[in-house]
Amino acid sequence: MARPFLCIGHRGAMGHEPENTLRSIRKGIELGATWIEIDVQRVEEQLVVFHDERLDRTTNGRGLLAEQSFAELRKLDAGRGERIPTLEEVFETIGERVGLNIELKGPETAEPTVRRIHARDDFDYKRLLVSSFDIPQLRRVHELDAEIPLAGLYSRPSKEALRTATALGFLAINVSLRHVTSEFVKAAHEQGLQVLVYTVNEPDDIARMMSLGVDGVFSDYPDRVLRASRK
Ligand code: G3P
Ligand code: CA
Repeated sequence: MARPFLCIGHRGAMGHEPENTLRSIRKGIELGATWIEIDVQRVEEQLVVFHDERLDRTTNGRGLLAEQSFAELRKLDAGRGERIPTLEEVFETIGERVGLNIELKGPETAEPTVRRIHARDDFDYKRLLVSSFDIPQLRRVHELDAEIPLAGLYSRPSKEALRTATALGFLAINVSLRHVTSEFVKAAHEQGLQVLVYTVNEPDDIARMMSLGVDGVFSDYPDRVLRASRK
């Protein structure tokens, strides 16, 4: 039986609510996303859910995230009165309702992420995907727990990406909408790898990705993906 097309809410449902907030994650789930993607960065000993290096675009703070204390970060407004969440809060919020794709965005996030996954000893790895552009961090996750499903993030698909994916036993390769090709999808599938494409928001692109046979898409508008799936 064909696997269902994965509808992954990007930073929650950032087309509708402030990205990477609990409000955005709840919205993604409400709209029917089957997976939620978030970005994590390390601040002191905490893992916060945040995309940029700087605070300016998405909060009422200024400057570099890495230069703030965790306590200061938690006082900021990340949009519509939301706080910057922690990874633990995301686990609590999603419960068992959807899959979680944790993107290791910042440095030194592999070990604390694995610790937090292990702390949730009831968490089913079928609902987990750890991804990163930073392949050495994925290698570290693999060393710590070879069962954790991994995905390499690449802007441009390449033969090198496929080789790394095999060496590290990736479940998926996640590539940019701008560069995905049917040849790459075929080559990845022949290696038993899933292909997930980011960030796919326009209905025509969603339809094109479905006809290309990719396994799912990241979208700021999970509702649009689900609408296209029902056609
Ligand atoms: O994981 C897919 C996508 O989120 C990667 O790009 O910049 O949105 O984190 P970015
Ligand atoms: Ca991301």
